[in-house]
Amino acid sequence: MSGPGKELLKKLRSLYGEAFYIFDRAEFNKDFNELISAFRAIYPNTYLAYSYKTNYLPQIVAAADALGSFAEIVSGMEFYLSKKLAISPKKIIFNGPYKEAATFKEVLLKGGAVNIDNERDFNLLKELLPLYPQHIFNIGVRLNFPELSSSPSRFGLDPKGKIFNKVIEFIYENKNINFFALHLHLPGESLEIWEKKAKALTNLAKSLKKMPRYLDLGGGLAAPARDKPTFKQYAGRIAAIFKENFATFPEPPGLILEPGRAIASRALTFVTTVLDIKEEISKPAALVLASRFNLPAAMSRKNHWPLIVRCGEKVKKYREIDIYGYTCMEGDLLTRNFSGLLAKGDMLIYQNVGAYSLVMKPPFILPNFPILELLPDGSINVIRRAEKAADIFGTYAPFEKQNV
Ligand SMILES: Cc1ncc(COP(=O)(O)O)c(C=O)c1O
Repeated sequence: MSGPGKELLKKLRSLYGEAFYIFDRAEFNKDFNELISAFRAIYPNTYLAYSYKTNYLPQIVAAADALGSFAEIVSGMEFYLSKKLAISPKKIIFNGPYKEAATFKEVLLKGGAVNIDNERDFNLLKELLPLYPQHIFNIGVRLNFPELSSSPSRFGLDPKGKIFNKVIEFIYENKNINFFALHLHLPGESLEIWEKKAKALTNLAKSLKKMPRYLDLGGGLAAPARDKPTFKQYAGRIAAIFKENFATFPEPPGLILEPGRAIASRALTFVTTVLDIKEEISKPAALVLASRFNLPAAMSRKNHWPLIVRCGEKVKKYREIDIYGYTCMEGDLLTRNFSGLLAKGDMLIYQNVGAYSLVMKPPFILPNFPILELLPDGSINVIRRAEKAADIFGTYAPFEKQNV
């Protein structure tokens, strides 16, 4: 993060409290553009579908839309957000194992696409289709390739299975179905797994009677980092496979990627404060106004390394101090074995926390911290105010003492 300097951070702390997020729109736009450009340089027919679940900050969702992204949603709640932001329903790709019937119907009738993941989805489609004979339904199929997963996956339909074949025949037979996509999402960031996925998907598509409009490789691309594949390296493998297979096609299928982490990670930074340092215990421990739940740590047991903004007075050099969160879990450890200067009152900056942080923060012990955006004119946009206890307890039926 080129980011705000010490004086500005101190000002933000005095205005908004000892912990807050900073949203960096320019960083999001940059990562989005770099990813799409890397792929389009090789396979121009590439599109992104931003994965809302990774971080549904309205500013991020709107920024992705402004950059021409499809919207990959997995619930009615996410569809609601897209509508609030006036995002065209034609940009919606509805994935996920559970689809509310009302959202399933609304997405399709408004021109969005639904990927069939299971028999329940298929039944919803079969019930809906005859009711709207004049309407064109955009239907995709999510795939499950057991041979590609290191551990069993429960998502999608196996192309060797009976249900897949029933769904695909249904798509071929119905004139009012537009075969929108074959979709394959599997975890794994390595170039090797992506190459395998791209090969499996292109081979299957070519073996079918009809080519869908898009081949969708889902999410799972790594966020930019020193030890991870670059967007250009991903494109060099994946887009190249598409080019090789479809260059001569009069209507080559579009390649869709559904990035979450790859483009949302660097868009958020978390800033917190050292509240206390305890030394008279078996290992020195710093307490900060944060928890693992504020970072993407809930997804991985990674050690998060902060930048230190020196604001505290009693600075001391520590060797292997642990930095702990505010919750009552012994394991709420943000940084293990930090070595260096640290003081009570210092601010800590945790970068690249935009993926699976806000969306996975439970109401455990403390409400959420505010999210700020520093605008080019120097003003501060409070994207989300600090949550209050009333926000957490407000959905319960009135429970004043006499009613409990
Ligand atoms: C279908 C689908 N698409 C996209 C994503 C986004 O993944 P990531 O944030 O790893 O890019 C996910 C994540 O689970 C997913 O299930």
